[in-house]
Amino acid sequence: KKVVLAYSGGVDTSVCIPYLMHEWGVQEVITLAADLGQGDELEPVREKALKSGASESLVADVKDIFVKDYAFGAIQANALYENRYPLGTALARPLIAKILVEAAEKYGADAIAHGCTGKGNDQVRFDVSCAALNPNLKILAPAREWGMSREETIAYGERFGISSPVKKKSPYSIDKNLLGRSIEAGVLEDPAVEPPEEIYQMTKAIADTPNEPEYIEISFTQGIPTSLNGEAKNPVALIEQLNSSAGNHGIGRIDMIENRLVGIKSREIYESPAMLVLIQAHRDLESLTLTADITHYKRGIEETYTQMVYNGLWYSPLKAALDAFIQKTQERVSGTVRIKLFKGNATIVGRTSESTLYTPDLATYGAEDKFDHKAAEGFIYVWGLPTRIWAQQGRS
Ligand code: ARG
Ligand code: SIN
Repeated sequence: KKVVLAYSGGVDTSVCIPYLMHEWGVQEVITLAADLGQGDELEPVREKALKSGASESLVADVKDIFVKDYAFGAIQANALYENRYPLGTALARPLIAKILVEAAEKYGADAIAHGCTGKGNDQVRFDVSCAALNPNLKILAPAREWGMSREETIAYGERFGISSPVKKKSPYSIDKNLLGRSIEAGVLEDPAVEPPEEIYQMTKAIADTPNEPEYIEISFTQGIPTSLNGEAKNPVALIEQLNSSAGNHGIGRIDMIENRLVGIKSREIYESPAMLVLIQAHRDLESLTLTADITHYKRGIEETYTQMVYNGLWYSPLKAALDAFIQKTQERVSGTVRIKLFKGNATIVGRTSESTLYTPDLATYGAEDKFDHKAAEGFIYVWGLPTRIWAQQGRS
């Protein structure tokens, strides 16, 4: 039997290699590490997989696809889970699943494997995404079944020459990529405890941020961010630059109690400077360029979209149908948003668009006013008629 394993270089995914071979009788383990802009050196990761017993060790640079095909759609959907979390981890999973399935098909593997535990969202996202892309592939999740503690896992690995982590092991569980960092465990498990400053890497503490505001301009073309401060940027560069400028002003920290799909409440800390600013700017540009009814109707679509992404249903027919709706709404969402970054806040201070629906002649209270005030009277009579009838009936 041949298996393609999602590989990060960490203890759990490394131990999966000998475990699959010795406990589950797998003959060949091919590892696949995805470069999602997490900033780790991936050559040592590739070598570690081989040392841990993999027959083949693949690395895929998918940063560009990640931003273009996954993050940008979420920005167009203004996707914030429970109104706050911009889905940095959740968006990466369907992409990893896609390259796992492609590798399994290319190498003729019978199954896909990952190192997720049985109590998280990530296992659901991997399993459901892989099933959607190729329902004939088996999915193996050793860490869901092996029942080893952290210490036992390390000891098991050492029997097969997998070195325990060299660095003093961090008490936190961290998932990171271009879109941000997701931090759990350790002292964070007590929701009453303030997160220690040491957990943050992308965002400065307010005490250390500049004392002068910074103004930036983000331009969107059909709902997709295309330039920063008037300069066209490729998707990855745009996210990187915005992460650094917003993070420098302490923007992008989220501390929330989150409802996982598997029924658990968990305390999650996120850093996601670029995504938060982009969603805020995008929503603002929509307020200038979309009709009122689309703006209001889209809110409901956005909520469903966000839950589907969080809950692992990226490759589902309803998600595809929502995508089509959202795409259609973005045709005129082009223009520029001006944002002030200062002391932990991103404040929209201006917006312009060639497709603006804002009509100065109608909005003004000045002499140029073109709005037909008299027409309002008849409108209000008809609009209020049901209410008037109801009230009348209640009095008699
Ligand atoms: N709770 C977040 C989510 O469901 C973050 C998960 C972080 N994953 C991890 N393997 N540390 O998207
Ligand atoms: C995990 O247990 O795999 C991490 C947490 C999550 O997926 O929500």
